[in-house]
Amino acid sequence: MRRKIVAGNWKMNGSKDLSEKLVGYVRSEAGSLDNDVEVVIIPPVIYIKDVLEQARNVVSVGVQNVGQWQSGAYTGEVSAEMAKDAGCRYALVGHSERRQLFGETDEQVAEKVALVVSSGLTAIVCVGETLEEREAGQAEAVVAGQVRTGLSSVALGEWHNIVVAYEPVWAIGTGKTATSDDAQAMHAAIRDVLKGMGAPAEEISLLYGGSVKADNAAALFSEPDVDGGLIGGASLVAKEFMSICRSLPAGA
Ligand code: PGA
Repeated sequence: MRRKIVAGNWKMNGSKDLSEKLVGYVRSEAGSLDNDVEVVIIPPVIYIKDVLEQARNVVSVGVQNVGQWQSGAYTGEVSAEMAKDAGCRYALVGHSERRQLFGETDEQVAEKVALVVSSGLTAIVCVGETLEEREAGQAEAVVAGQVRTGLSSVALGEWHNIVVAYEPVWAIGTGKTATSDDAQAMHAAIRDVLKGMGAPAEEISLLYGGSVKADNAAALFSEPDVDGGLIGGASLVAKEFMSICRSLPAGA
């Protein structure tokens, strides 16, 4: 059975106060979810300790990015091993904001994925096409390329530490969401690519992200190849985030 996951990516938002109040609320509600969803919070790195304190192992915690090196003179960077040491379970890799604003390439994504997996964290590897690429009919080819190169460093026994998040760039923070049919079609295509790479594709969780809200989550999550979501803006609002967590069907 695939892990069902709803992960909240706070991006460069939040505070000590939010870490206490929101995570405290999410923890108290997450205990009573009846759909086996793993709730993950991915705050700015400086609040990881505060979030972990509130999460108390009921909610998992992740890091938004890791450096592409093991350790050394890289001022401002945080390594995968440090994130693991601090108590994280997940690391986002290759978020479209990292790709677009910081020039992260598929090759760097592959290096980071290797470090994340060897440190014992699970990598949530983000892929997705831009609007121009979709309009040019290249969406599937672009995403397939990102998956093949970004995950090229994963060895056979490491796939259980990989989650893929499909986030069309045009849907992130825009209020536009892929239709459930489009999301399903891309997730099925990603699973095929993973199969072609020799991965145990049926066991790998595929999350959808991009303007997921309480009112569209259930439709997206009802698709057979959508195993959960990566939530940005709506993860900063406690009740809305929990309502998204509840939208995953039980036993799917
Ligand atoms: P959004 O962000 O939900 O605010 O669109 C999703 C993401 O970037 O992970």
